[in-house]
Amino acid sequence: AARAEGAAPVFDFPEVTAGVDDKHHVANGYDAQILIRWGDPVLSGAPDFDPQKQSADAQAKQFGYNNDYLGYIPLPDAENPSTHGLLVVNHEFTNEELMFPGLPKQDKDAAFGQMTKELVDIEMMAHGGSVLEIRKENGTWSVVPDSKYARRITPETEMTISGPAAGSDRMKTSYDAEGRKVRGMLNNCAGGVTPWGTWLTCEENFNGYFWGDYSDDHPEARNAKRYGVAGRWYNWGQYYDRFDVSKEPNEPNRFGWVVEIDPLDPNSVPKKRTAIGRFKHEGAASVVNKDGRLAIYQGDDQRFDYVYKFVTQGAVNSDDRAANMDLLDAGTLYVARYDADGTGEWLPLVHGEGPLTDTNGFASQADVLIETRRAADLLGATKMDRPEGTDVNPQTQKVYVMLTNNTRRKPEDVNAANPRAKNAFGHIIEMHPDGDDHAATTFKWEILIKCGDPSIAEIGATFNPATTRDGWLGMPDTVCVDAKGRLWVGTDGQAEDSTGRTDGLYAVETEGALRGTSKLFFRCPVGAELCGPEATPDVETFFVAIQHPGEDGESWKAFGRASTFDDPATRWPDFDPNLPPRPSIVAITKRGGGKIAG
Ligand code: FEO
Ligand code: CA
Ligand code: CA
Ligand code: CA
Repeated sequence: AARAEGAAPVFDFPEVTAGVDDKHHVANGYDAQILIRWGDPVLSGAPDFDPQKQSADAQAKQFGYNNDYLGYIPLPDAENPSTHGLLVVNHEFTNEELMFPGLPKQDKDAAFGQMTKELVDIEMMAHGGSVLEIRKENGTWSVVPDSKYARRITPETEMTISGPAAGSDRMKTSYDAEGRKVRGMLNNCAGGVTPWGTWLTCEENFNGYFWGDYSDDHPEARNAKRYGVAGRWYNWGQYYDRFDVSKEPNEPNRFGWVVEIDPLDPNSVPKKRTAIGRFKHEGAASVVNKDGRLAIYQGDDQRFDYVYKFVTQGAVNSDDRAANMDLLDAGTLYVARYDADGTGEWLPLVHGEGPLTDTNGFASQADVLIETRRAADLLGATKMDRPEGTDVNPQTQKVYVMLTNNTRRKPEDVNAANPRAKNAFGHIIEMHPDGDDHAATTFKWEILIKCGDPSIAEIGATFNPATTRDGWLGMPDTVCVDAKGRLWVGTDGQAEDSTGRTDGLYAVETEGALRGTSKLFFRCPVGAELCGPEATPDVETFFVAIQHPGEDGESWKAFGRASTFDDPATRWPDFDPNLPPRPSIVAITKRGGGKIAG
């Protein structure tokens, strides 16, 4: 429904006070209940969580570590779609210093020496994803035990490689001579749910899981460099040859994709959809276009990387779920150019068009996709300030893009869409496709908010003046447009800039006189990032994913010590002296029932 122009706020809740402590805080009148924590059972037979007696077998049946994306998918036979469904969860990465006793804090080389094969196997099983059946009874959400839908995806789960890059010589390894199957997914950050109820889970910083070197003249050396391979953030290559690029040079080409998983069938084989491109995918927000095709908006989260859109060749079949199961294998991938006059253009990444030819080392569409970033470089796409989450308002067709920050942008490198040098707090761009057509190659755009503390003039933030000192946000990352068409933004890292505030979930007005007003609804415990935000269709529940509570950073300097398993800055959510902090999912509901925020 169209919203009246005027000063009436769309969001109605008492604002949370910004600050830093070891607990979460939700707006008065709301309950925030812990739904599931790292180590809680997912599969039948999972042992109880015991941080002193962890094992890979146990972890493979238990809820994984850092929970980023959350997708809520109502069960087809649910009596009420908003009280019984599947929750799909990405397990993005691990914090070894908070997971395991005795590890040194953020001293990578020292930690590598202590990361035995046994610990590596545990942390591998803590990656991937979980499928949970959840139900709300008497106002309380819980995970249905021993559900037939329950599933853990790990770096060992076999997956199919599909789409134009499948079968490319550059996808072949000693494990897979055909270039068509791969074990696992890595660093799955945000994601999406398709209209046919599959889960799109997006591989982000896959480069960090590899070690080893390419020789300068290796055919993959240029490609690897553009993605930061091998990042050597984890020492998995010490125990597994496939994570050592000097032994398995094509393995990194098999990561950095969008993975489609059917959560209704726990035996389904996940598919890496290569048509959607290879980069550090943040998420995959989709919208059914007016011609029936699906458009997926995506960010590539790195400083000076790009915003992408994929448009399927075929239309979504709303009557026949099975007919959509390979829809994502054919379509056109585009990258965005933002022009100074507020217009923009989607540039197609199609082999043979423009510079994407043999002359530049692209022999096929597979090459264009495996080296998506280099192809986009050649097309002259706009270099952005770390594109993170995207979402679409299907009522207005407006698309929201979170640009989290980019302190390396120099004054001579600013452009209209990234107007601040040393952009520490990021901004939010609103895009509107021409003709309300998500398949169109032209759009209009404007900046909704430049983020940061509006009381510090040098920062140059541009909130609506109705924003309070508690309500301004920095480092926008995750995003959700709820079923009422309202914008919610989760932040990542704003405490790292001595702001005196942990990350949180903010309601952001997008229309009328209050457009650009931001308001704090939920605040994380120290060290944590606010991920996931996902509402049920009735908007009576908001799920949030609280990643890495207690993680090292500026914010816990106030606590005067290093934050480790043995002496963490918080023991959220249990506050049990025998338990470390645990990444967890929180279900937020209005006390006494009703819609969140009015
Ligand atoms: Fe995993 Fe770009 O955040
Ligand atoms: Ca993110
Ligand atoms: Ca982030
Ligand atoms: Ca994080």
